[in-house]
Amino acid sequence: MTKPMNNEVGSEVKAMPINNGIAENERREIAESLERMLADTFTLYLKTLNFHWNVTGPMFQPLHAMFEHQYTELAGAVDQIAERIRALGFPSPGTYQEFAQLTSIRLDDGAPTAEEMIRSIVEGHETVTRTARSAFKVADKSKDEASVDLLTERLQIHEKTAWMMRSLLARSAAASA
Ligand SMILES: [Fe+2]
Repeated sequence: MTKPMNNEVGSEVKAMPINNGIAENERREIAESLERMLADTFTLYLKTLNFHWNVTGPMFQPLHAMFEHQYTELAGAVDQIAERIRALGFPSPGTYQEFAQLTSIRLDDGAPTAEEMIRSIVEGHETVTRTARSAFKVADKSKDEASVDLLTERLQIHEKTAWMMRSLLARSAAASA
């Protein structure tokens, strides 16, 4: 059985309680949604890094460069989401075991083709989009503007990336018609 998440407030909050206008139980609920967002974002980062290293075929150069741009952006987002969880007063997950337990993203076995990688990246960004949308509802209900703002930005980036990567598939479908 996997270890449950540590949902106790951080030691800094025990030393000095948070008084930011959002009750502790609501901050906990938001932090738990952001934990899932963090795990998805980290797992998508790892997927994208894997594809940057292992992509092959005629699309190597553009995909290698696009994946680098994407994983660099995702690494920044991972940090922002974890630090938002901390600002809400809770410890942030930070291990493979916790991320594996929390994420909805599937990592890829074997050696996917370039097209399989593109499809997997689109699915990954759409998965994070759905996780962000459910976290958004939780943050919005508690009027946590800072989390809402962060999640809105993440939604825009994930939907845009899914569109761009999906567009590559339309071109290859036309070529094979
Ligand atoms: Fe590289």
